[in-house]
Amino acid sequence: MNSLKISPTPSQPTLSTSKSNLLQSNLFGAILIGIGAVLIGVIIYVCIKKRYFASVKQRLKKRRDELEKATNNFSEDCLVGSGAFGNVYKGTFEEDGTLAIKRAHSDSFQSVQEFRNEVELVSRVKHRNLVGLMGYCEEDGPRGAKILIYEYVPNGSLLEYIVGRKGKTLTWRQRVNIAIGAAKGIAYLHYGVKPSIIHRDIKPSNILIGDGFEAKVSDFGLVKSGPIGDQSHVSSQIKGTPGYLDPAYCSSFHLSPFSDVYSFGVILLQLIAARPAVDTSRANSRYHIIEWARPSLELGNVEDIIDVNLLSEPCNMEMMLKMGQLALRCVVKVPKNRPTMTQVWQELEESFYSTDNFINTT
Ligand SMILES: Nc1ncnc2c1ncn2[C@@H]1O[C@H](COP(=O)(O)OP(=O)(O)OP(=O)(O)O)[C@@H](O)[C@H]1O
Ligand SMILES: [Mg+2]
Repeated sequence: MNSLKISPTPSQPTLSTSKSNLLQSNLFGAILIGIGAVLIGVIIYVCIKKRYFASVKQRLKKRRDELEKATNNFSEDCLVGSGAFGNVYKGTFEEDGTLAIKRAHSDSFQSVQEFRNEVELVSRVKHRNLVGLMGYCEEDGPRGAKILIYEYVPNGSLLEYIVGRKGKTLTWRQRVNIAIGAAKGIAYLHYGVKPSIIHRDIKPSNILIGDGFEAKVSDFGLVKSGPIGDQSHVSSQIKGTPGYLDPAYCSSFHLSPFSDVYSFGVILLQLIAARPAVDTSRANSRYHIIEWARPSLELGNVEDIIDVNLLSEPCNMEMMLKMGQLALRCVVKVPKNRPTMTQVWQELEESFYSTDNFINTT
């Protein structure tokens, strides 16, 4: 009788194949479970975030009659200023205290969508050097009210100090602190939130001065989400204020955080000289403060351009010169050769520490 021979050799590969199949299917299962878990996590995160922002928006929503009560029916007595967007009123609320209420002209906003975009973006932003959004009021229809409610900043805008309105002036330390604070606020918009925010209207009237003379960047009416990922810029219609508008952005329509850096460079020069950004009474080709200040700063001479009010106090000329030279780097032609806003505030702070060892004096 033929005996049945069972050879062990062919069964070995069969065993190891089933083992590796088992391993593979286990691995596949684990990967599936992993992907599932990540997906569920993402969905939960998005839902929580959406609900959170929906609740924030709901909480921020105010009724028109509340605002009318707070401003004595938008009376002249409560008016603190006005701009292209509309009027700004001081409002007093029982629960929230004093707030600034910005009511748009009926034709200020191109669309309700732009208004919502602003509320959405600004409600996500919180920083001690940015004016915080405290509420909004939106009524339906093209003539419906569009009102933004901000924290009230008591000491006016930087513009009032630069033009010396009501005899207002700043010490050199206050000027440096304001520059550092404003730069920190703008750097936060650029690098502290996602997607990043480009302000697009950095100018002295949009830098408000708080209780302790700290800077508070305001007016997010033109904010624009910045480039995402590897992009260096976003394409955008030209918006902003003459004198502060980056020429590179004007000619290319390419908007990047460096356009805010340019505007900030102009402000640094104004902090030193207390002069307007553009002045047609200056000698030809020196209309702009950059061209007017450049020759002196390049020679290392800040005394020739400094605000006369600073000459009557022991002003730190070394710091003022450093600030002026930094300003010139902020306004170089090629945007990517400018410092970032983070580099700007760090450099200002380092210079301040090295020239003066006490930073928070106001
Ligand atoms: N949150 C605030 N707290 C206190 N005052 C404010 C506040 N926001 C604005 N103001 C005052 O109202 C004025 C008008 O502000 P608004 O931003 O409407 O216009 P602007 O910046 O002066 O000009 P533009 O319309 O060209 O931007 C400011 O200069 C400032 O004095
Ligand atoms: Mg403004």
